[in-house]
Parts: sequence; structure tokens; C-alpha cells
Amino acid sequence: MSEIRKMPREEGIDHSLSFIREGYRYILNRRQGFNSNVFETRLLGKKAICMVGMEATEIFYDPEKFKRKSAAPNRAVQTLFGKNGVQALDGQDHKHRKEMFMSIMTTQGIRKLTNITKIQWMTALNKWERKDKITLYEEVKEIMCRTACQWAGVPIEDADVKKMTKDLAAMFETPAAIGLNHWLGRHARNNVEKWIVELINKVRNGKINPPEDTALHVFTWHKDLEGKLLDINTAAVEVINILRPIVANAIFINFIALALHHYPEERKKLQSCDKKYFHMFIQEVRRFFPFFPCVAALVKTDFVWKGYEFKKDTLTLLDLYGTNHDPEVWESPDLFNPMRFARWEGSPFSFIPQGGGDQFMGHRCAGEWVTIEVMKVSLDYLVNQMKYEVPDQDLSYSLVSMPSIPKSKVVIKNVKPKLTTDS
Ligand code: HEM
Repeated sequence: MSEIRKMPREEGIDHSLSFIREGYRYILNRRQGFNSNVFETRLLGKKAICMVGMEATEIFYDPEKFKRKSAAPNRAVQTLFGKNGVQALDGQDHKHRKEMFMSIMTTQGIRKLTNITKIQWMTALNKWERKDKITLYEEVKEIMCRTACQWAGVPIEDADVKKMTKDLAAMFETPAAIGLNHWLGRHARNNVEKWIVELINKVRNGKINPPEDTALHVFTWHKDLEGKLLDINTAAVEVINILRPIVANAIFINFIALALHHYPEERKKLQSCDKKYFHMFIQEVRRFFPFFPCVAALVKTDFVWKGYEFKKDTLTLLDLYGTNHDPEVWESPDLFNPMRFARWEGSPFSFIPQGGGDQFMGHRCAGEWVTIEVMKVSLDYLVNQMKYEVPDQDLSYSLVSMPSIPKSKVVIKNVKPKLTTDS
């Protein structure tokens, strides 16, 4: 048997405040201090293990070692996730629910989504032409809300789009917020859940009939392992697990615009490149910029890894941002360089902006392909389909506030469609 070692430990009663103060770099900072990819601390009044890097990711996604039930902090459940969603399931229940999600992520389904996204960008572009300037983040959230509703089969009146966009965005903008903002996020979730519950009721009563390939249809009629329909609140939480993250794509799309501004040579390359470079650019945006800081699980049964004891039920955090910036995996991780993906071997444990491991069997994001394709459509618009100027503004983004959004939310002006003769 291998020798048991003492896990590096951050002394003190609780470090939740440091986590809030240091944000995306909390785990990386201590990793450097301890010179270890794993250490123990105390967060939210509990002992917690923090891990970073490729080997840590591989172990974290081993379902024999970690479970998700009751792992997420309550503030994230009340805003971001909702109750009884796929994120908190384990074993066969998780596998069965995840199949429901993956059944709509087909090539055909994603093609339909990208077509809707293109039309929404085109419509927005016509509208922006008549304005002096726009705030890209706010506008793209609305594009994504319209796209998400249409793709998911959720009928929405034009007049309700702004409110729905605001509520869906509040769910991912407020989990780490303090005070009133956080409560606005909870309130937003309650509003949207109530609305989706009513819609599911109407589908079950035959009053509306969304297309068969949509999330609203599939999730309304999905049966659990006992052959029963999902209870209506859970079905609503899962429909929102489609709508909310599609709107959250606005964060990555805003970072695309920021990258195009900071690295103008990239814009030139993208204008003349093949599809492969487009893909590499998107991957680098997802690696380089901060989004989800980490994911949480509980130790399922006692085990020893690298000589360190992991005790049943210990909260464990895997650092997503840190792993994507791990110098053991990524050469010059703090340089924005899409070319690194030309040589990338594609381990599911080293590049984890949307979680690691396997989409079908584990908790890796169900919408990763959706995100990539929606980002490609958006990149094409920003590079090839429109012209715009970026006026002076504060484009800095913080590695402390979560999620991180450039301060000005990227204001652009003189937006015009690009004619094919424009360079
Ligand atoms: C906006 C970009 C997105 C980011 C940064 C993101 C990130 C993540 C992360 C970090 C996880 C957790 C992985 C884990 O627990 O191990 C996750 C899970 C999930 N994501 Fe995404 N996601 C995004 C977009 C999407 C989209 C567009 C959809 C759906 C259309 C989606 C649906 C889901 C679902 C259903 C889960 C739960 C999977 C499970 O627990 O098995 N996400 N995502």
C-alpha cells in the first residue's frame, strides 16, 4: 500500500471571503504557494479539497470516486441550477436524464439551431444599423434569448423578450453576487420556472403542441427509469437548463469581440482562413477567457490518491479556469494563441471550459457543441458580415467578479452590414 501523506492545508477557520476576493485565481494562487495540485482549505464553513490540472480532472470525473448529489452550494441551486436538475444526479438516474439532453444535441438539431442563430443575428444587424451605438453584451443576450426560445419550442411574444432575457441572464449573473443582486437572481428563477411550468401544463393538456424535436416537447414527455413523467417542476428546471446557458453564450461572444479588438491581426487571419482556423480561434477564446471558475462534487467513498486521503462526503472543487491555464499542460498559458490548437491532442481532461470527461456518461456540459457552433456563427457575423468601430471605453475585465464581463460590456458604433466587396 502506498504511504499516506499529509495534504497541504490552508490554515484558518474559513476562506470563503478570500475565494470571493481572489475569484478565478483563488486555487491557482494557493497551488503556487503550496507547489501542489491539491490542497485542503475551508469554504462555506466546511472542509474542502481544491484540485487543478489534468490528472486531478481525470480523478474528479471518476463516478466511483465523486458524486454530485448535494454538492452544489445552495446559492447556486437557487439561481443557476434549480432543484432536482441533471447536475445533481448520480449513477443510472444521471445517465438516463443525460440521455434526454443528448437526444436533442443531434447534427440536425444543432444545424437547426445555427440557422435560427443566423437569422437572429441578421435581424439584429438590421436594427443596429439605425442606431449610433449598441452595447454588444446586452444585444447578444437578447439574440440568444430569442434563439434559445425558438430552438427549445418555447413560444414567446416580442413584448416579453426583454424581461425573459433579463431573468434568464440573472440566473448566471448573480450566483456569486452579494445582497440584493443575488436575491434578484432567485426571484428571476422563480419567475421563469413558474412560466415554464404553465407551458408544460399546456403541452400535457394538449393546449399547445411544440415540434417533436424541441426541448419543450422532449422534456415534457420524458419518462424516468420507473416509467413516470418527470414531475412538472423538474421538467421546467431542465427546460431552463437549455434556455439559460444558450443566453450565457453571450459572455463568450462578448469575449470574441474583445479578442478581435485586442488582437487585430487575428481578424485579418480569420477573414482569409479556412474553417479549421475559425474552430481554433473559438477554442482559444473558450480556453483563455474566464467563465465558470470551478465545479463541485462530494467524495463518494474513502479513497487515497497520490498518497492523500479523500474522506467520504468531503466537498471537492475542480478548478476549470486554472486547468485551462495550467503551465504543465499549456505552453505560455497566458498568451492568446489559437495556433496552439493546431497541435492539440484533445484530451477530455486538459481543456475543460465546460467540464471534462465524457458528455454522455459524465457531467461534462451537454451544450458544448451547441456553444461552439453558436460561437462560430457569431464570429462569422463579427468578422465577415458586419463593419463596426470600437470607441474608447473601459474594456478591462476582472479575474475577481464571477462571471467576468468586460466593464463596458463592449460598446460598438457605426454598425453596418458588410458588402461582399468590402475588405
Ligand atoms: C455558455 C457557455 C457554457 C459554459 C461555459 C458551460 C459550462 C458548463 C459547466 C462548467 C458544466 C458543469 C460540468 C460539470 O459539472 O462537471 C456544464 C454543465 C451543463 N451544461 Fe453547460 N455550459 C455552457 C453552455 C451550455 C449550453 C448552450 C447548454 C445547453 C444548450 C448547456 C447545458 C448544460 C447542462 C444540461 C449541464 C449539466 C450536465 C450534467 O450535469 O450532466 N450548457 N456546463
